[in-house]
Amino acid sequence: MSNQTFPKRYHPIHVVLHWLVAILTIFMLAVGFLVFPNTPNAQEIQMLGFHRMTGILLGFLMISRLITRFVFKRPAPADAGHPLLNLVGKVVHFLLYVGVFAIMFAGGSLSRAYGLDNILQGRGVIPEDLFIYPQLPIHGNISYVLIALIAMHAGAAFYHQFIRRDNLLSRMWFGK
Ligand code: HEM
Repeated sequence: MSNQTFPKRYHPIHVVLHWLVAILTIFMLAVGFLVFPNTPNAQEIQMLGFHRMTGILLGFLMISRLITRFVFKRPAPADAGHPLLNLVGKVVHFLLYVGVFAIMFAGGSLSRAYGLDNILQGRGVIPEDLFIYPQLPIHGNISYVLIALIAMHAGAAFYHQFIRRDNLLSRMWFGK
């Protein structure tokens, strides 16, 4: 038997990074759906510059949290009450990382393809139809996958908290 000891919670730095990433990801998804459903006009293109900057910040936060995830000790694996559910939980966590990185790369590639930098500096024109770039539907479809993953993940957290009553949320919060 292993005599490994597990902390009760994730490290506070990892907790801060988790919630920053969570807020920023949900914010980015909301902005994407509310502000950029179509090819952007001149005003929206300025906001796309901001969207891209926020995406780059999210990338740095994701890399930092990947580091803190492996550097600091983690609590014992959560028990959802069935081995299959525990496996699904692990897979969803993994896919959340993959999904956030994938949507960022697709977005970055799209902005390079149509020359967002040049447009923002007044040296280019907004393409008539951004949908000619395959990166756009890729970026958009990953956002649906991410929404489904976040819904499953948050649903699982509330299932633990309120149905299994194991106070799982406290593991991703501060305390002794
Ligand atoms: C309302 C939104 C959210 C809630 C309530 C929530 C809650 C939690 C909780 C309670 C844990 C700890 C699970 C455990 O102890 O085993 C956790 C871990 C985790 N969360 Fe969230 N979360 C949310 C949003 C997000 C988002 C948006 C992402 C990614 C973009 C995310 C990615 C992760 C990952 C990957 C883990 C596993 C630990 C790690 O590698 O950091 N979460 N979350």
